Amino acid sequence: KNPAGAPPAELARPVQKVGVVGAGLMAGQLAMVYAQQLKVPVVMTDIDQERVDRGVGHVHAQVDKLAARGKLSAEAGEQLKALVTGSVSKDVYADADFVIEAVFEEMGVKKTVLAELEQIVSPECILATNTSSLSVTEMASGLEHPERLLGFHFFNPVAVMPLVEIVRGPQTTEEVLATAFATAKGLGKTAVLVHDAAAFVVNRILLRMMGEVQHSFDSGTDAEVADEALAPMALPMTPFTLLAMVGIPVAQHVTESLNAAFGDERFPVSTNLQHLIDAQVSSIWAPGGPGDDDRKVIPAKTL
Ligand code: 3HC
Repeated sequence: KNPAGAPPAELARPVQKVGVVGAGLMAGQLAMVYAQQLKVPVVMTDIDQERVDRGVGHVHAQVDKLAARGKLSAEAGEQLKALVTGSVSKDVYADADFVIEAVFEEMGVKKTVLAELEQIVSPECILATNTSSLSVTEMASGLEHPERLLGFHFFNPVAVMPLVEIVRGPQTTEEVLATAFATAKGLGKTAVLVHDAAAFVVNRILLRMMGEVQHSFDSGTDAEVADEALAPMALPMTPFTLLAMVGIPVAQHVTESLNAAFGDERFPVSTNLQHLIDAQVSSIWAPGGPGDDDRKVIPAKTL
């Protein structure tokens, strides 16, 4: 059955080459899932060679991990690795069919990247944004061809989380939308068409809960205590473990978008998390992160 809001599947165009702009953690996960599921070449780009190499290296390491666990044959692993390459030049997207950006969560940065892409890609190429919270309508407003833009929002960890939120821009065509639904299906994901509102649906709801947890942190509850207290509550992951996985700056950016849209009462921005970001502490858990037996928790009010 066609998902609600999806145009007829026959309108979908083939996707034979994919671009992922950005080579950070989320971008690497996206590149991996596109190459693994669609079996098409995926090119990652970033602003310098070091970032590109790190991004591609992250994907290759993921492939090696799967192969070591017997989930992929050595041959399939090598084929998958060969599909994921990197470049510092977006010119590699001249013959791409679907380019998704996963760069820094800031409107100005996203708009600049999309404008650059428009100068390179073919008229049929779809441009997608993996934004967690920003307005697709506003991103489209800066484009010469807004009809080819849409939101295509994944969840971390991309390999496991089954959902993609598809966000239609004001001028997105039926063909573009149909291709997005077909791509999500090819990736093995469930796609839902959501309204272009701050943080869409999932993050808006999730951040309401996480906001309360962070408020509790700001008031002096240690992260470890909050996690221990909530561990038996049948959440898939305890709140601070989730925060560590998603990344504090990402969570804070999403909260800021929600705060701008809905105000302090519903979405207060955490002062403690901002302190951690300012001090360049990237995780509540240190060192090692979630799952590390020697992990240490940064207590509230220490910075
Ligand atoms: N990458 C790849 N695969 C992973 C993974 C990762 N980071 N983490 C777990 N897996 C795989 C495991 O290998 C395992 O696969 P297998 O069954 O084939 O061996 C499978 O997932 C299950 O893993 P676990 O046995 O460790 O199972 P858990 O029961 O602990 O589940 C989880 C792991 C699915 C990540 C679960 O903890 C979960 O759902 N957590 C919540 C995640 C969440 O809420 N994400 C959304 C965050 S918000 C967001 O991303 C939006 C953005 O805009 C900010």
